[in-house]
This record gives sequence, structure tokens and C-alpha cells, in this order.
Amino acid sequence: MSSARQMRSKYMEWAKTCSQAPFNLATSGIMNVPISEFPLSVADLEVTTSASGYGYPPLQERLARHTGAPEECIVVATGTSMANHLAMAAVLKSGDEVLIEEPAYGPLLDVASYLGARVKRISRKFESAFALDSGEIAATMTADTRLIVLTNLHNPSGALLDAETLREIGQMARRAGARVLVDEVYVEMLFDPDAPFSFRIGQALAGSDNPFIATSSLTKLYGLSGLRCGWILAAPDLARRIWLLNDLFGSVAAHSAERMSVMAFDGLEQFRERAKTLLAQNRRLLDDFLDSREDLECFRPPAGTVCFPRLRDDDSEAFVRLLRNEYETSVVPGRFFEMPRHFRLGIGGQTEGLRAGLERLSDALDELGGE
Ligand SMILES: Cc1ncc(COP(=O)(O)O)c(C=O)c1O
Repeated sequence: MSSARQMRSKYMEWAKTCSQAPFNLATSGIMNVPISEFPLSVADLEVTTSASGYGYPPLQERLARHTGAPEECIVVATGTSMANHLAMAAVLKSGDEVLIEEPAYGPLLDVASYLGARVKRISRKFESAFALDSGEIAATMTADTRLIVLTNLHNPSGALLDAETLREIGQMARRAGARVLVDEVYVEMLFDPDAPFSFRIGQALAGSDNPFIATSSLTKLYGLSGLRCGWILAAPDLARRIWLLNDLFGSVAAHSAERMSVMAFDGLEQFRERAKTLLAQNRRLLDDFLDSREDLECFRPPAGTVCFPRLRDDDSEAFVRLLRNEYETSVVPGRFFEMPRHFRLGIGGQTEGLRAGLERLSDALDELGGE
């Protein structure tokens, strides 16, 4: 049993205090929607709390439409962050075994550690395009495994988990009496209604409970982080348990934010188009940049806002420091993903800022290489 529980998230501390820069290529979301583009109806805002009960009905209804999941399977949460915490806390107790991908988004590891779970890792290797090997998962699972934790698209690499792999993992988990938490905050960046949404895949598995728990939010793709509109999809019994568990945390949501989230869902097509246009432009800049650099190796993800290049021969720390201090540009150091040769590059910002940031990246790489 773990004695020194993790009570903090080093990545979140870094993100909150060190990631800002004039040229910020560290963020993983699409740039924020300005209020002038938001379909705000002030008359429809309300500063009281919502009526009693679990879930604000208009928001539950929008989420059911958006996800295709029945309302009894939907729990709202304060961003994907709280969604992940609640999902893990509802399934894991101290001493339980959890399998988490490596590299992983730091807070997922931190929450598991905080809950006192025993963490085992399943690898996503650069050499294998960050794919998961279901054989390795089968070999790593034991009778004590309660949960497998994945991201799709993968943070930091952007790699896509396909439906077949997810189905296999779901079946393995079900046989072992475990669940699979898939953080899908990036998967809608495929702009494909047939994207491999894990909860849907779980619903199609014949037999008992859906082994998948999916988490997401309006944060990353839609540029609406400020609303903190997150959700969890889980089998009905588990969803009910999560609602009850949430009574021990925030208990009641900010009702103005719930109402604004309903407005956001009603205008979602506009935000999706905005993101699609921006990402198409920005992706071209990223490809040109990567094509021009022989000193970088990079798996190129099929979609999304992040990629995870590595320096051919070196640790990225000195490079990231130089970039920051001399070129006013931030990226996420690979050490936060347990891979110090790499750094994570985000392309969800405004196009001209990205262009300038990538030029600075090139200049810093040239300086590092002695040119
Ligand atoms: C995989 C992953 N999950 C969750 C989050 C946080 O999402 P939210 O802002 O919805 O809490 C992030 C943010 O970087 C993320 O990369």
C-alpha cells in the first residue's frame, strides 16, 4: 500500500505558473472564444442555484444529444479534470491496482497516487507510433486490476486509439471485472461523427455492464475552457455512484455556467467550424516546420492540437530553457511526460502567433546546433 500519497500535481503547478509566454506553444486547447462570438443571452442567465436534484435537466438533455448516451449514464463535472478525479475515485480504493499509459497526462497519475492506488504502466513507445499493445495490457493485468486509464487522442503524442483496439481492451477488462477510463477530451478533434467514442463501443459489446467510462468537456476543441463544462459517461449504477460521490466535493454546480453551457451546446456548430478552420491552417504550418527540421523526430498525429517531437541527440531541458529565455516561447518540457528528450508542442493558438512561435523554435534549434 502506498504510504506517501501525492497531494499535488507538479504539471498543473508548472502550467499555472510557468507556461505563459508571449509565444505560447504550451497550451493544448483551441484559443478561447471571445464573448463577442458567444451566443449569450443575459436575460437567460440566473445567479441562483438550479432546482434540487442531480443534473440540470436542460444540460442533461443537451449532453445526451451530444454524446448519444442515455441521461441516466451522464454525470456533469467541473471540466474533464474533475470528471477524471470523480471517475477514478468512484472505482478505486486504496491498494487497488490501476494500469495507466506511459507517457501519461500528469494529473491522471497524480490522482491515482492521491487515491492510494497501486499504479502499473502500459507503454506507448515512440518507435511504435505511440500505439497501445493489447498483448502487453493482457500480460500486465492481474486479478487485482480495477481500472485501465487511457487518453484518446493520446496526450502528449496525439495518437489515435482505434475502435478495434478499444473493443479488445474493453473485452479484456470486462472479463477481469475491471473498467476502462478513456479521457476523450481530444477525440472530437477528428471531426468525425463515427470517431471511436469508447462509451458507444462499450454499449455495443453484448452482455452486461458497459466497461468504459468516458470523460470529456467543452474545453479543448471548442475554446470554452472558462465554462468548466465537463462530463462523465458511465454505466447507470456507476453514474449514480459518481453523482453521490460528487456530493462530497463541489456538490452543486455554478448555475450561471450551467446555463451558459446550454447556450454553448445550442451554438456548438459555430465553435466546431471555427476550430476546424483554425486547425487546418495551423496544421499546415506545423507540417512545414517539421519537414524543415532534421534535428527533430516526430510522430505526426492524425488530428488534434498537440504533437510530441524529440531532439535527435539530446535532452530537451536546455533547449526549452533557451527557447523560453532568449526567444520568449514556451512548450511543455518532456520531463512532465516522463520523456525528457521530447517536448510537447501545441498548435491551437491564433495562426500568426503560431507562425512566429515556430520561427522562434527554428532559431533556437539553430542556435543549439551551433549554426
Ligand atoms: C488529457 C487531458 N485531460 C484533461 C485535461 C483538462 O481538461 P479540462 O480543462 O476540461 O479540465 C487536459 C488538459 O490539458 C488534458 O490534456
